[in-house]
Amino acid sequence: MKVLVTGGAGYIGSITVEQLIKGGEEVVVFDNLYQGHRDAVHPDAAFVQGDLKDRAAIDAALAAHKPDAIMHFASYTLVGESMQHPFMYLGDNITNGLNLLQSAHEHGVKKFILSSTANLFDKPERMPIDENERIVPGSPYGESKNILERMLYWLDVTQGMRYACLRYFNACGASEERGEDHTPETHIIPLILQVALGQRADFAIFGDDYPTPDGTCVRDYVHVVDLAQAHILALRALDDGSRTYNLGSGRGFSVKEVIDMAREVTGRPIPTRVVARRPGDPAVLVASSDKIRRELGWAPKYPDLRTIMEMAWNWHLSNPTGYAK
Ligand SMILES: NC(=O)c1ccc[n+]([C@@H]2O[C@H](COP(=O)([O-])OP(=O)(O)OC[C@H]3O[C@@H](n4cnc5c(N)ncnc54)[C@H](O)[C@@H]3O)[C@@H](O)[C@H]2O)c1
Repeated sequence: MKVLVTGGAGYIGSITVEQLIKGGEEVVVFDNLYQGHRDAVHPDAAFVQGDLKDRAAIDAALAAHKPDAIMHFASYTLVGESMQHPFMYLGDNITNGLNLLQSAHEHGVKKFILSSTANLFDKPERMPIDENERIVPGSPYGESKNILERMLYWLDVTQGMRYACLRYFNACGASEERGEDHTPETHIIPLILQVALGQRADFAIFGDDYPTPDGTCVRDYVHVVDLAQAHILALRALDDGSRTYNLGSGRGFSVKEVIDMAREVTGRPIPTRVVARRPGDPAVLVASSDKIRRELGWAPKYPDLRTIMEMAWNWHLSNPTGYAK
């Protein structure tokens, strides 16, 4: 199968491309390198540098490469940024996704996988969070994903587009060759490891007075290679119909537990300081991934935090400046 991967030069996209190629699929990456890195793109993938706001560029890529399926990772991705600059999200994220969907429709691409998010669940009534949980987006970012999910629903009903919406909780870890390198970095594990590398003085804990056992927020960490495998399973299952899954490990770790694990794995001191809570951070977010385990046999290979931390640390040690040469 030939798969066009938007955002395939970014963190999760590049590792999914790597896993698709390992699995024998043909891949075309479409990325504007806004956050992605040319060196993150697997050498066996075709690469198109293009922007999803440019409908003609998408049309040209689909006409030239004729993919059977699209995986759509490319997006603005930051909750906090979306609160400050909502139109990047309620505007660009949605219109870029719409451009891609219209082009896919016109070029007869009938399989589509969307990177969605745990930020759909700002006020969860049950923990762990399963797919029946009420959707309450926590930000314009979450709302942009919700609207794309709804578009896909209607394109399935009206046009027979088969889709999978995959709602990741905290993606983390690395493969041997690819890892996480964002500017600015906002994700907890790379930030902590940058402290271990001596690139930051300390790690800021956003609040230690939450109603959790140690007072810090609890999150579900899912290994990026396991996420990539979930995409491949979902892609193969699309012939049997569209589907939506929450993707996490089913276990929560507090911020302090993550820091302690990083200290153990790196053997380095990691100074911390406590700062004010971030507005809109729920105390606990843990996924139930029973549905994808049951329906597709998804079995995460790296569910434990130690392995996640070790693999991330190995990548950061080998690439202390990320992809920059
Ligand atoms: N990282 C997480 O924990 C997490 C959790 C939930 C959902 N997600 C979603 O997963 C997807 C991938 O996340 P990531 O962490 O790999 O992000 P990332 O920023 O590393 O990757 C996104 C990629 O998309 C590209 N891109 C952005 N806008 C583009 C545009 N207009 N045209 C073409 N390319 C464009 C960027 O250059 C980048 O390579 C995103 O949709 C994100 O919302 C991520």
